[in-house]
Amino acid sequence: MILFLLACGPSLDSADSAGTTCTSGHYWEGGNSESPFMNPGQDCVACHASGEGPDYTLAGTVMGDYADDDDCNGVESVVVSITDADGNKLSLTSNSAGNFYTNEAIAMPYTVVLEKDGATREMSGEQEDGACNRCHTAGGEEGAPGRVVAP
Ligand code: HEC
Ligand code: HEC
Repeated sequence: MILFLLACGPSLDSADSAGTTCTSGHYWEGGNSESPFMNPGQDCVACHASGEGPDYTLAGTVMGDYADDDDCNGVESVVVSITDADGNKLSLTSNSAGNFYTNEAIAMPYTVVLEKDGATREMSGEQEDGACNRCHTAGGEEGAPGRVVAP
């Protein structure tokens, strides 16, 4: 019986071990009250598309660590440069929560490069979905390594 419980341990723990850090040490505490700084790390596009708030074509959060929790404030002043399928370029700058968002039309797929203080970090693949935080969760979905992390 004891062996059985130990064997089950890792799978029970894994849900908790993703997202137990907050590099900035500061959390958003405003719930769903409307703000550019709201819900860092959560899926902005999906919630807004469900009839809450304005629609966004692309949005996400730049964070301090791959495993940062939902609602943990991220990293500001990171330039998020998008190049869409038509070659149009769009640059967004993360705010003090690490959030960035736009409602401009983006032809899919797009590529993205982050830049801060001359350092860069690039997603090697193209994406068809502007909801960065859907894949870039603390645990990482669809092969993503975790959060969108500052360069
Ligand atoms: C769980 C739902 C939910 C999530 C997740 C969410 N929002 Fe919101 N957002 C709302 C609601 C509700 C409002 C207020 C809508 C209203 O009052 O019309 C709002 C409003 C806003 C506004 C103000 C829009 C305006 O009218 O000027 C901004 C900016 C915003 N959200 C950005 C974000 C960003 C960026 C993210 C992701 C990091 C995000 N939101 C995640 C629900 C959400
Ligand atoms: C459908 C899932 C998905 C979406 C949506 C997505 N990504 Fe990614 N991202 C990935 C995967 C998978 C990787 C790892 C492979 C690669 O680099 O292409 C990745 C890698 C990255 C990396 C490099 C990670 C590292 O630290 O080496 C960055 C930066 C990044 N993504 C930023 C973004 C941004 C910004 C957005 C939104 C504009 C976004 N991603 C949307 C899946 C996604």
